[in-house]
Amino acid sequence: MGQAYEVPETLTILKAMEFAGYQYKRGCGCRGGICGACGTVYRKQGDHTLHTGLACQTVAEDDMILAQIPFFPANRADHGGVDTSLSPDEQIATLYPEIFRCVGCGTCTRTCPMDIDVMGYIAHFKRGDVMRGAKTSFDCIMCGLCVSRCPANISQMNVAMAARRIAAGQMTPRSESTKSRAEQVNAGRYEEMLAELGQMDKEELKTLYVEREREPDLSLPGEWMPHDQSKL
Ligand code: SF4
Ligand code: SF4
Ligand code: FES
Repeated sequence: MGQAYEVPETLTILKAMEFAGYQYKRGCGCRGGICGACGTVYRKQGDHTLHTGLACQTVAEDDMILAQIPFFPANRADHGGVDTSLSPDEQIATLYPEIFRCVGCGTCTRTCPMDIDVMGYIAHFKRGDVMRGAKTSFDCIMCGLCVSRCPANISQMNVAMAARRIAAGQMTPRSESTKSRAEQVNAGRYEEMLAELGQMDKEELKTLYVEREREPDLSLPGEWMPHDQSKL
C-alpha cells in the first residue's frame, strides 16, 4: 500500500500488516477465511499476473506488492421485489439480466479464494438451472473479488445469493420442524424465557452460557436430549 516493510517469515498478510503497525478497523473479521472481509490483490516482482487472496489465509512473501479491498461496489437488485409468478430462472434473468453478458473468460473462477467455479454457476443461471447454480455457489463468502475482475460487470456473488434465496424459499420443501418451531415462537412460547434473560446481568449470562448443557459432538441425530427439557 505504497510502503515497504520487513516482516518475519510465515506471517499471513493480515498479521504482517499488523506487525507493520496497521490496526484493523475494517478489512478484517473472522481471521479464519469465512467472513470475506479481507480480500487482497497482489503482484510479485517480475510476475505480470494480478493475484488475489484472503489476507488472513495468504502467507506474505518476499517482494509482494499488495492492497486490501475490504469492500467492492456490486450491483444488488431488489430481491424482495421479485415477481414470484415467474419461474425461478426467469426471476434470476429479470433481477440480473447482465448475466447474459458473460463472455466465459473464467477470470472470476481464477480469482475466487474459495475455489468456487464462479463462471460455472453463472453458466448454470444462464441455462436456467437455478438449483445447480445455488449449490455450486454455496461456499461463497461474499468477498467481492470476482466482482472486481469481471469484464462484463456482473456481480456474481449477488446473483448467487438471490439464487440461493429462491432455491431455498421456492424450490425446497418446507421443514416441518422449523414450521412448528416458528408457530411456537409466534404463539409467545419463549417470551417468558427472553424476559428472564433480559433481567440477567453480564456475569449471570456468562455463567449460564459456560455451564449450559451441550450436545456431545458425536451424538447421532435424534438420539440426544437435554436433561432439562422445559425450555424445548
Ligand atoms: S464467488 Fe466471488 S464473492 Fe464469492 S468467495 Fe468467490 S470470489 Fe468471493
Ligand atoms: S469474469 Fe465475468 S465475464 Fe468472465 S466468466 Fe466470470 S462472470 Fe463471465
Ligand atoms: S478475516 Fe474473515 S475471511 Fe479473512
